[in-house]
Amino acid sequence: MAILKIARMGHPVLHQVAEPVDDPAAPEVSAIVRDMIETLDDAGGIGLAAPQVHIPKRIVIFFIPGARAHPDAEEGDGDEGDAGDGDGDDDEGDADDGGIDLTIMINPEIVPVGGEMDLGWEACLSVPDMMGAVARHGTIRYRWQTLDGETMEREASGFHARAVQHECDHLDGILYPMRMEDLSLFGFADEVNRNKALLARPNLEPEEPPEEEQA
Ligand code: NI
Repeated sequence: MAILKIARMGHPVLHQVAEPVDDPAAPEVSAIVRDMIETLDDAGGIGLAAPQVHIPKRIVIFFIPGARAHPDAEEGDGDEGDAGDGDGDDDEGDADDGGIDLTIMINPEIVPVGGEMDLGWEACLSVPDMMGAVARHGTIRYRWQTLDGETMEREASGFHARAVQHECDHLDGILYPMRMEDLSLFGFADEVNRNKALLARPNLEPEEPPEEEQA
């Protein structure tokens, strides 16, 4: 196990299209994932894509804290509408706090559901100390392979959908500032958080990601 160095914006590894993983069950893939988990734990984020640790392969790990999985109170009852209940055949992914447990995705793919776009704040371990507001699909379906080579699928909305889109963008060489349409909503996280009221937009989620939600 090792804590890996995180590439920062400007490094070419963050701007290339990552290679598919031919054999998700290969021992070297498990070894990469173990190091990614240790690195994410050390860095204190919620998600990490392999290119962020200088490995241009289509591997993503992430989890969703319970507090962010159900932004609307009426969805917080924990037994219906859980974003992790993709196919309804088990509770895979549902953390006890209503969030999504650590999910290891090999070769993930995203399909938007409906045309709705949501504007919300994002931060990234490869763009330290900054945050910005990015428009993302409000609801998505996504599928991936596990380390056993099994194919999984979920539907996600809200912050869960945003995090998955952010992470999978890393596999295509895209950092969130490249998605931004209004750079007046890009800034140092401490300044943005301090001036949130001044940056308010009618279509922008008012809450900001705390430090641990860098992805
Ligand atoms: Ni990121």
